[in-house]
Amino acid sequence: MTLFSPFKIGQMTLPNRIAMAPMTRSRWAYPDLVPRYYAARADAGLLITESTSVSPLSVSRPHSSRMDDDSWVPRWAAVADAVHAAGGRIFQQLYHLGRKSDPTRLPAGLLPVAPSAIAAQGQIEGVNGPVDFATPRALEANEIPGIVGQFAEAARRSDAAGFDGIELHGANCYLIDQFLRDGANKRTDSYGGSIANRARFLLEIVDAVSAVLGADRVGVRVSPHAGGDGISDSDPVALYGYVAEQLNARRIAYFHLVEAIGYGVPKRSPPPGTPLLMPVVRKAFAGPLIVAGGYTRASGDQVIGEGRADLVAFGELYIANPDLAERLRQNAAFNEIDRPTVYGGGAKGYTDYPTV
Ligand SMILES: Cc1cc2nc3c(=O)[nH]c(=O)nc-3n(C[C@H](O)[C@H](O)[C@H](O)COP(=O)(O)O)c2cc1C
Repeated sequence: MTLFSPFKIGQMTLPNRIAMAPMTRSRWAYPDLVPRYYAARADAGLLITESTSVSPLSVSRPHSSRMDDDSWVPRWAAVADAVHAAGGRIFQQLYHLGRKSDPTRLPAGLLPVAPSAIAAQGQIEGVNGPVDFATPRALEANEIPGIVGQFAEAARRSDAAGFDGIELHGANCYLIDQFLRDGANKRTDSYGGSIANRARFLLEIVDAVSAVLGADRVGVRVSPHAGGDGISDSDPVALYGYVAEQLNARRIAYFHLVEAIGYGVPKRSPPPGTPLLMPVVRKAFAGPLIVAGGYTRASGDQVIGEGRADLVAFGELYIANPDLAERLRQNAAFNEIDRPTVYGGGAKGYTDYPTV
């Protein structure tokens, strides 16, 4: 088995086991560029879009991606159509920023929402420069079905836009992650406390979007080691083991685990001695497993060859190498990433990287 062995996810047959990881690029000031950017990467087995907000209370940098009203359907349909015309397959990543919403860009007088009134550590680039993350308002239990419904509505729009499926963003310290981990979730109702209670929000969303799309068109991404904003959990092995078991029972399309064991860069890798989740998830979840986090050609081939995962998602390598799958196949050199153009701007550093 190699990165180039075909694989099935739901109804789709992928020509290879290479995924393009979800990456926010903040290019919606130039809507005509976005379909071109994704279509140029269509030789990946699976493309996953940048994270897309499902709620007006989920806002961050300008020109980022939304799916919280119908006006976005034609814009995203142009992306799905371009990828399909180029022979590719694409899932749309859906999320809610929760306590990481930009307080300076929220509708006047409103606070970010979260499971508990605990601020994320650090700052966000607000309208007039960097500001601290706000202390969020803890959601009332009776507001939660409304947010679950916003995910289902967004999934309906993704379907109307022609996406092959959606990925729920349960990673990187956003709202689903804030519910999962006990450092950010101090609730005493049925959405907090026990692992089953903290996973309830995610699983209700999985069930709601599955009712719209079918479970075999729903993926879930988690990042047990992400902790940059102070989020933490007291027992990640038990938490993510339970989540994997529950998602296995629901027969979702795939489980997407961010676990940066490929880096060898201490800053980004889990600290030494941290229990790794890949074997835990593999044991509990019988469906397709995608792994991400610092993978290279060699470590990607190895994790597939050893059968520890089914697909490898590449992030940064895909920014500078639209034809990454072909480059991996030919063992060709990679383009260098241009860091200043990663977020925002126009074609430069977005649609102008050369192919081999
Ligand atoms: C510019 C950039 C934007 C990203 N945006 C997202 C995002 O929207 N959603 C998400 O789940 N992860 C996002 N990530 C994380 C990547 O999906 C990936 O997990 C991470 O870059 C590690 O993989 P890599 O070492 O192959 O880049 C982003 C990463 C980068 C570099």
